[in-house]
Amino acid sequence: MGKNKLRKFAEVEANPLVLQYPFGRLSTEQFPLRGRWGADFFHNDNPIVLELGCGKGEYTVGLGRHFADRNFIGIDIKGARIWSGATQALRDGMTNVAFLRTSIELLEHFFAPGEVSEIWITFPDPQMRKASKRLTGTRMMAMYGRLLAEGGKVHLKSDSPFLYEYTSLMARHNGLTVEQCCDDIYGTYGTGTPLTDIRTHYEQQWLDRGLTIKYIRLVPGTTSLEEPPGAEDIPLDTYRSYSRGYIQMPDQMPEINNE
Ligand SMILES: C[S@@+](CC[C@H](N)C(=O)[O-])C[C@H]1O[C@@H](n2cnc3c(N)ncnc32)[C@H](O)[C@@H]1O
Repeated sequence: MGKNKLRKFAEVEANPLVLQYPFGRLSTEQFPLRGRWGADFFHNDNPIVLELGCGKGEYTVGLGRHFADRNFIGIDIKGARIWSGATQALRDGMTNVAFLRTSIELLEHFFAPGEVSEIWITFPDPQMRKASKRLTGTRMMAMYGRLLAEGGKVHLKSDSPFLYEYTSLMARHNGLTVEQCCDDIYGTYGTGTPLTDIRTHYEQQWLDRGLTIKYIRLVPGTTSLEEPPGAEDIPLDTYRSYSRGYIQMPDQMPEINNE
């Protein structure tokens, strides 16, 4: 491992805004802040907002600056990515921001039912072949429904036409309330909203490649959900391979379609 990465890991370890709780420990003891984030970490009872797969944490820190009366927790499995947002938040003395290094699938070990007010999902892998791993798939959406307080919202910001269409179809099929949806936020809203004024690392890369950015805000509720029929007919994104993380360069993307 490179020196730089080792230094970041050490700094993340020492950063009081970052919580890391090894999976092994969860099998023998309960995470102490579960159900107590407000009382024991933030020392207030303000709403708690999560950013899943936060990467460098642009939304966690950006929304934290924007909304002083809410608490934000960025969640990612990769410590070297979290380092960026956590270092900024610590340097700026932010008291409404934290980072949790864990797997999203384990969220219910870290948050009690109803403890969360909103969830942001920013530029996730669309998992075109695996609905069960998709962050807006019904399995994950049901988990969000258990974690969210009544009326709690999920925000999805994505470059992926596949994920946008799938999430819209999933919401429609299950009768979920979609409060806002837009397939081109920069073309539609311009600036002056956190939706376009906060830009993530991956988002900038997609914008540089000429893609439009999509947004959906919905309320998952607590009713049981089923995968929507017809999802298998949604066109796959042409600019991704099916293996994780592989992105074609612009000169290899002749058939890109932003509609
Ligand atoms: C495509 S990146 C997007 C990062 C950031 N949101 C952005 O827009 O720049 C996806 C992020 O999700 C994280 N991730 C993927 N699967 C995860 C999981 N199961 N649990 C926690 N983090 C995960 C990755 O480590 C990565 O940082």
